Amino acid sequence: MSDMIAVILAAGKGTRMKSALPKVLHTVGGKPMVQHVVEAAAQAGAARIIVVTGFGSDQVAAALAGQAEFVVQAEQLGTGHAVMQVGPALADFEGTVMVLCGDTPLLRGEMLADLYTAHREAKASATVLTAKLADPTGYGRVIRDQQGRVIKIVEQKDASPDELAVCEVNTGIYCFERRQLFAALAQINRNNMQGEYYLTDVISILVSQGAKVWALATVDAESTLGINSRDQLAVAEKILRRRKLMALMAEGVTIMDPDSTFIDATVSIGPDTVIYPFTWIEGDSVIGKRCSIGPNTRLQNVIIGNDVTLHFSYAHDCRIEDEVNVGPFVHLRPNTVLGAGVKVGNFVEVKNSQVGRGSKIPHLSYIGDTDMGEGVNIGSGTITVNYDGKRKHRTVIEDGAFIGCNTNLVAPVIIGEGAYIAAGSTITKDVPPAALGVARARQTNIADWTKKHRG
Ligand code: UD1
Ligand code: CA
Repeated sequence: MSDMIAVILAAGKGTRMKSALPKVLHTVGGKPMVQHVVEAAAQAGAARIIVVTGFGSDQVAAALAGQAEFVVQAEQLGTGHAVMQVGPALADFEGTVMVLCGDTPLLRGEMLADLYTAHREAKASATVLTAKLADPTGYGRVIRDQQGRVIKIVEQKDASPDELAVCEVNTGIYCFERRQLFAALAQINRNNMQGEYYLTDVISILVSQGAKVWALATVDAESTLGINSRDQLAVAEKILRRRKLMALMAEGVTIMDPDSTFIDATVSIGPDTVIYPFTWIEGDSVIGKRCSIGPNTRLQNVIIGNDVTLHFSYAHDCRIEDEVNVGPFVHLRPNTVLGAGVKVGNFVEVKNSQVGRGSKIPHLSYIGDTDMGEGVNIGSGTITVNYDGKRKHRTVIEDGAFIGCNTNLVAPVIIGEGAYIAAGSTITKDVPPAALGVARARQTNIADWTKKHRG
């Protein structure tokens, strides 16, 4: 499809967003709106993608660096004026220009590819994608003659009462033959309610020239939703979220309550995993098969193996191997790796640590900057004392060590293989393999003490 070039209009401020950020950079589904449009254009086979920028042009160009070309529209005089700016960049091009708006983040690549195919097969000069909406407020209306042929597009602000009653709207998505598009743009003017050069006027100009102009009504109006306000942004967010959940369910993931589950488009999840309510899975997270995730869990950039259970917990930038059991109330912080079969639960924090296969940290512990071997048992209330006020130090706990309850391990320190630490110890020196480390005052019992003190 190398003879189609996409032009994405993204110069507007987006006044109705009431924002310092250009409208097209507001994120939806974890990405700027215009990014979704660029991706859809690429999927539809665009040979080049040209983005018209204006308000916040540097920010828009930075967000899309390497994915598109940019043409600046210094003054925003309307959608027709925006397309005119691309003229020089397309001077030698003979083919189809697909015009899109940067504020329609729900577009799907296939629908654009279908529009392009229909346009080519009809050998049309222009093809506009339309949608039939129950509430057409705000959109340009598509006006047809009695034979159903398109005559023109009228903007809401310029429409007569009869025209306002039309429910077929312009989605702002078009295919034009390059030569005819620019010839018609040369004829448009600003004699309308908004004083703008309307791209939509190209349609009536081409019709009056007897050119073939096609209007195709989409069956998927939802995907053409244009975002002009924050409340429409929230609607789009919900639709994108639902799409991701539907795709996961189609691949064999159980989502117990889609209304309270938030999963980024970038996440992948294996079959027979169950996601419980009130769960967020974000960024580059990958979850294996047969896992049980949630309820009340947030995962950001977490790689999880198979058969893992994780509930009432927060994990970010870490890796969890097979058959691990995490939660409730666990915080796993960056650079943590939990080996296969590990158990971490009940108010435990683990940071920047390796936990070897089958080790257990079941209750009330802080494990930071630690290299823990396999089969280690960490007693309740164990704390690695990793910070001396200036620097962080590592704790090493070798295979099979047993740390008694309420122990402080003052780093740097090494607990040897199979060593035991007596409960309540504050360990400041290395403990050799197989040794017992005790570091607490010996108990003294004073006979009949209470009788003397009871008065
Ligand atoms: C436009 C269409 C309308 C259609 C609707 C679909 C026109 C005149 N109207 O109206 O028929 O129903 O889209 O969503 O085309 N832009 C520029 N430069 C400008 C003006 C706008 O780049 O000078 C960009 C905006 O950033 C935006 C897009 O063009 O991404 C559409 O502009 P917007 O002001 O939202 O147009 P609508 O009033 O929604
Ligand atoms: Ca719009």
